Amino acid sequence: MEFVRSSEDFATTAVDLLALALVEGETEDEAFRAVDGALEGALSRTISEEGYKPREGATLLIHTHGRIPAARVLVVGLGKPSAWTEPPLRVFATLAVQTARSRRSRQIALAWPAAGELAPPEGAEELMVGALLGAYRFERLKSRAEDDERSASVDAVTLLLPKEVARKLPAATFVTAETRGRARAAGVTLARDLVNEPANVLTPRALAERAQAVAEGHPELTVEVLDRAALVSEGMGLLLAVAQGSAEPPALVHLTYTPPVEADAAPLPVVALVGKGVTFDSGGLDIKTREGMETMKTDMAGAAAVLGVMSALPVLRPRVVVHALLPATENMTGPSAYRPGDVIRGLAGKSVEILNTDAEGRLVLADALAYAVRLGADELIDLATLTGACSVALGKYTAGLFTNRPALGQAILAAAGEAGESMWELPLDARLKKEMRSSVADLKNVGGRHGGAIQGALFLEEFVEKRPFVHLDIAGPAYFPRAEGTRPQGGSGYGVLTLLRYLESRTAE
Ligand code: BES
Ligand code: ZN
Ligand code: ZN
Repeated sequence: MEFVRSSEDFATTAVDLLALALVEGETEDEAFRAVDGALEGALSRTISEEGYKPREGATLLIHTHGRIPAARVLVVGLGKPSAWTEPPLRVFATLAVQTARSRRSRQIALAWPAAGELAPPEGAEELMVGALLGAYRFERLKSRAEDDERSASVDAVTLLLPKEVARKLPAATFVTAETRGRARAAGVTLARDLVNEPANVLTPRALAERAQAVAEGHPELTVEVLDRAALVSEGMGLLLAVAQGSAEPPALVHLTYTPPVEADAAPLPVVALVGKGVTFDSGGLDIKTREGMETMKTDMAGAAAVLGVMSALPVLRPRVVVHALLPATENMTGPSAYRPGDVIRGLAGKSVEILNTDAEGRLVLADALAYAVRLGADELIDLATLTGACSVALGKYTAGLFTNRPALGQAILAAAGEAGESMWELPLDARLKKEMRSSVADLKNVGGRHGGAIQGALFLEEFVEKRPFVHLDIAGPAYFPRAEGTRPQGGSGYGVLTLLRYLESRTAE
């Protein structure tokens, strides 16, 4: 997809489809009035005849029959500003590209919406991210591309800028916005792809290879893969226990991003991003139901998001050192699978009594968090499809945030708000810890029936040595079984945009 900057008149651009945004309850903007005028009021007449309301995601398409050079005009409803959860410019571009695709429009123009309240560089970046994400599809496993009579890919997107916006967005600024936008969208796309890959393709080893491919050609990124032998010699018993029922060997993938530093610069903060990388979760001997297991190739969405973030860092260049740790394994049944009742010691030295082999995420994360502490991370952030309980509590759109440092939690919630990813804090209620007391070991891997998501978070907190810590339970929003609005079917890439915002905010300090 190519992007073109243009300050041509709204009504004279020759494209297959010209998209305009409408906000519910607001009057039409400059672009709308110009196009409606050139069409002698046909647009506003159709809107009233059809009873069209610009609710979020509602679109209206009209053919122009040669009255203006654009063959079609698409009106994209953005709903009411009070209900916006995602940046409206991004939503506009995503919906426009999705519609263009289904209408086989290859050349499209997006009229700069008055709505959005972003400065032109950020606004252009959001439009480009939205357009790129609207074009997303996962079809590498299909023998025939779906680029057929039903849909086509959008080749070129022109951003039509009013004069005063064009002045604030000269060509060089536009190119920077495009480079940044492409990097952010590619991070989300990578995360989506990894989640959508089936577990027979995306094995722990394949995940490690993808990480190596991400680092390839970027001197700021290094990768180390700890294989089974290395995990044994490090003493990562918890990750190994989960892996022992699988024929696929586990790995701990460790990427490091180090920005170039000036000689006399103060030391940079060190952030560890830990992503649950269970490439398939059968539940182990505490086996899941058929329905419960159906989507468990997605249980590495945390690792996918972290890898997506790392892929964008060489372009965005935040001034922080980032360690990415991806504990990767399957959770399977079999003659050598770990058992309920087993007691296992991991890297941190604590003994854990396994009472449910399906609570495996916290085990693999515990070893990775302990490793991050050893690496000297100043703060630890993990992303994990950890508990069904979290999506029961918050719904499928919202991730749960848990933290032992309110200020860090607030910074990440703020980044999520800007990125348009919904996130809600749940309490790290220490009173529930007693539910995880074991009669034979230091702790059990599961507690009582109530507060399951909180117990998962409390378990992880045992392994961070009181360092600033945020746990994000993304079991709800990581994957959508059906397409919904701007979200495609499948992996969502949830978390990538939030973490990128957060890391960039560290630079601005
Ligand atoms: N991977 C699952 C959590 C999950 C469930 C993610 C549904 C996405 C959708 C996790 O390993 C798991 O099985 N958790 C258990 C924890 C329980 C045994 C304490 C759960 O949620 O039931
Ligand atoms: Zn599980
Ligand atoms: Zn799991």
